[in-house]
Amino acid sequence: MKSQSTQNTNIITLKDKSTVALETNDLHVYYGDNEAIKGVSLEFEKNKITSLIGPSGCGKSTYLRSLNRMNDEIEIAKVTGEILYKGVDVNASNIDVFEMRKNIGMVFQRPNPFSKSIYDNIAFALKRHGLKDKNELDEIVETSLKQAALWDQVKDNLHKSALALSGGQQQRLCIARAIALKPDILLLDEPASALDPISTAQVEETLLELKENYSIIIVTHNMQQASRISDYTAFFYLGNVLEYDDTRKVFTRPKIQKTEDYVSGNFG
Ligand SMILES: Nc1ncnc2c1ncn2[C@@H]1O[C@H](COP(=O)(O)OP(=O)(O)O)[C@@H](O)[C@H]1O
Ligand SMILES: [Mg+2]
Repeated sequence: MKSQSTQNTNIITLKDKSTVALETNDLHVYYGDNEAIKGVSLEFEKNKITSLIGPSGCGKSTYLRSLNRMNDEIEIAKVTGEILYKGVDVNASNIDVFEMRKNIGMVFQRPNPFSKSIYDNIAFALKRHGLKDKNELDEIVETSLKQAALWDQVKDNLHKSALALSGGQQQRLCIARAIALKPDILLLDEPASALDPISTAQVEETLLELKENYSIIIVTHNMQQASRISDYTAFFYLGNVLEYDDTRKVFTRPKIQKTEDYVSGNFG
C-alpha cells in the first residue's frame, strides 16, 4: 500500500507554486456506484495549455466538468476532494457557482451558440452579470471577437444570426462568448472534434494566442493536436492519471508503457 504522501513520480508538480492556476487534490467523481475519477491530483500552470488525453470513457470529460462544477447539474454525480483556485476550494458547498464560472469558463464539444445574433451571443452573459453600458458592451464584444480571431469575418454582420456561421466560426464565437467574461481559466472539451481540418487549425491558432492571457485546459482525442498546441499533457486511464509531464516528454519519452501504447496509437 502506498501511503497518501508518496509522490507519484509519473506526475509532475510545479516548482514555483505561484505559477499554479488551478489544482485538484485527490479528486474523486462518482456516478452512483460508478467511480469515474479515482483520486486525481494535478497542478495546472498559468498561461499554459494542458491537454487531457486518454481512451474514451476514461473520465476526461468528467474530470474537466468537475473543475467548474458542471457535474452539479448531473443528479447522480458526486465529487469529493479539493479543487483549489486562488486558495479557495471551488468544490466547497458555500461557493457561488455563477460567480466562480466567471473565472473558470467552459467551451463544449459541439458549438452551441444561442439562437441570437452574433452580438447578443456575447452580450447576453455580460448583461446577466450586470453590465448595461452600451459602449462598454460594444467594446467587449469587439475585443472578445478579436481575441477569438473572428472579428474580421463578422464585424459587418454583428446583428446576423449566429446560426448562419460555419461550424468553425460558431466554435470561435463560443470561445469569444467564454472569454468575454474575462475568465482566468478556460476549459475546453474536444472543441474541435466536430470541425473540419481548416476550422480545427483556426481554433488551434486561437488557443495558442489566448494562452498569453488565459490558462487553458483542453480535452482532446487528437494526438497531433495535443502535441501541436499543449505545453503539458495528462494521460487518463480508467479514471486515474497515469502520467503527467511536459507534452514533449509524454509523446517522445513516456515513462509508462501504457502511455507509450496510447500515444503511438496502439489502442484508443
Ligand atoms: N452523465 C453521466 N451519467 C452517468 N455516467 C456518466 C455520465 N457521464 C459519464 N459517465 C461515465 O463516466 C465514465 C467516464 O466518462 P467520460 O468522463 O465521459 O469519459 P471520456 O471523456 O474520457 O470519454 C464512463 O464510465 C461514463 O459512462
Ligand atoms: Mg469526453
